[in-house]
Amino acid sequence: MTEPNLDAFRARCQHRIEAALDELLPPASVQPARLHEAMRYAVLGGGKRIRPLLVYGAGEALGVDPDLLDRPACAIEFVHAYSLIHDDLPAMDDDDLRRGRPTCHRAFDEATAILAGDALQTLAFQALAEAPGLASEKRIAMVASLARAAGSRGMVGGQALDLAAEGTVQDVAMLEHIHIHKTGALIRAAVQMGILAHDAPDPDHAERLDRYAKCVGLAFQIQDDLLDVEGDTSLIGKTAGRDRILEKATYPDLVGLAEAKEMAANLIGEALESIEVFSRGAEPLRWIAGALIGRKH
Ligand code: IPE
Ligand code: IPE
Ligand code: MG
Ligand code: MG
Ligand code: MG
Repeated sequence: MTEPNLDAFRARCQHRIEAALDELLPPASVQPARLHEAMRYAVLGGGKRIRPLLVYGAGEALGVDPDLLDRPACAIEFVHAYSLIHDDLPAMDDDDLRRGRPTCHRAFDEATAILAGDALQTLAFQALAEAPGLASEKRIAMVASLARAAGSRGMVGGQALDLAAEGTVQDVAMLEHIHIHKTGALIRAAVQMGILAHDAPDPDHAERLDRYAKCVGLAFQIQDDLLDVEGDTSLIGKTAGRDRILEKATYPDLVGLAEAKEMAANLIGEALESIEVFSRGAEPLRWIAGALIGRKH
C-alpha cells in the first residue's frame, strides 16, 4: 500500500513505530524505575522518527511486509535515542535542550542518563535478535549491520572525530568524513534494514538504495548544521548556535550558507536519481528525501 503523500505515509508509520517502541520499552513502574523512566523519556514524546521512516520506506520500495520492519525500525531508533542522550552530556556537547524539553541528564541526572543510553543500546540488539517473523540469518545480518553502523567505525567513531575536531580548522573532506560517520552511518543502516528484511534483494536495487541512503545521510547532517545557524529555536527544540559555541566543524562555517545549501540540494538530487528506476513503491523514499531539504526542525 502506498499512500498519496508523505503526511499519510508518515502517519501510518508513526502509528506503528510509536506503538512498537512503547511496547518494547520496559514500563516505568518496573524497577529500576528511574532508569526505565529515563529511557522512556528519551525515546517517547518527540522525535521525527526519520530513521524508522527510512526503514519502512526502503521496505516499501522492495515490497517487504511492514510487519517485519517494526523491530528493525525500533532498533535503529533506540540506538539513535541513546546517541542523542550521550551527545548532550556535559562531557560531549553539554546541551540543555532536546526536542523542546530538558535533555535527559537535565531531567534526571548524569549517571541515569549514561545508564539509560547504555540500556537503550542493548535493548536495540535484543529487539533485533528476538524479532518475530524474521529468519535467524536475517536477524544475524541485521544485528551485524547495526553493530557496524553504531560502533567505532560508524556513529561512535564519527562522534569521536567530531569532538576531536572542535576548534581545529577543517577541510571539506574531513568534515564529510565526520558527518558520514556520526550521522550517515545510522541512516544508511536504516535503509539496509529494509533491504535485509527482503528474502532475496536484487543486488542492483540494493546498491541503488544504499547510494540513496549515503546521499540522504550526508544531506541530513548538512541540514542539521544549517538549522543550528538559521533555525527557529521554537521549532528545532534544541539549543541553536551550540555548534558555534563549541567551535564544531560545520558546513556553513566551512563553505558558507549558500554553498552548504547547494551541496545538500545536490545530494538530494543524487539520492533521487539513484532510485529513479524504482516504481511507485519508492514514492515514500522520494518524499522523505524531498522533505529533508525543506525541513525546519
Ligand atoms: C539529530 O537527529 C541528530 C543528528 C544525528 C543530526 P534528528 O534530527 O533525527 O533528531 P530527532 O530524533 O528528530 O529528535
Ligand atoms: C549528533 O550530531 C550526532 C549523533 C548524536 C550521533 P549533533 O551534535 O550535531 O546533533 P544535535 O545538533 O545535538 O542534534
Ligand atoms: Mg554532537
Ligand atoms: Mg549535539
Ligand atoms: Mg547539530
